[in-house]
Amino acid sequence: MFTSMPIAYARTPYQATSEIPKGCGAKHDAEGVLEILPEFEAGLLGIEGFSHLYVIWEFDKSGDYDLVAHPPTDSSRPHGVFATRSPRRPNPIALTVVELIRRDSAKLHVKGVDMLDGTPILDIKPYLSSIPEEKLRRGWLAEAEARNRAVR
Ligand SMILES: C[S@@+](CC[C@H](N)C(=O)[O-])C[C@H]1O[C@@H](n2cnc3c(N)ncnc32)[C@H](O)[C@@H]1O
Repeated sequence: MFTSMPIAYARTPYQATSEIPKGCGAKHDAEGVLEILPEFEAGLLGIEGFSHLYVIWEFDKSGDYDLVAHPPTDSSRPHGVFATRSPRRPNPIALTVVELIRRDSAKLHVKGVDMLDGTPILDIKPYLSSIPEEKLRRGWLAEAEARNRAVR
């Protein structure tokens, strides 16, 4: 077993999961603040130079897990939990890429949050993707998006 501790807490506009955009075409452009705990602030040295960050956080309100999920993008079809971004996972760990707007001491102002206000943050890393777009495959999501486009 492992134990993790929060290094920060997210301040976001969302008090309830129903307020967070979901499903096909959902845009995550809400702004929020990652409030780093004082004992970890020194770890932000140099972070201002990065435009985007990976934020690793805990689904602290998700309860139990399901190995098969019905994500809002394709709710009529089952998908294995590890082929989705469902909050109900064996290890309730989430990953969000955000844009870093600015750093204000121990506060990182970011855009693109999709977590509840008060969510514990486990880690932050610079976002660096070296995979060219033409090499990325989007699995069942690409098919679900195409079906949704066709019915619109
Ligand atoms: C689909 S997950 C994706 C999260 C992250 N981008 C990922 O891919 O791991 C986002 C959803 O998690 C739920 N959620 C947000 N904050 C949560 C929290 N603190 N605990 C449990 N569920 C949360 C909301 O329903 C939100 O719409």
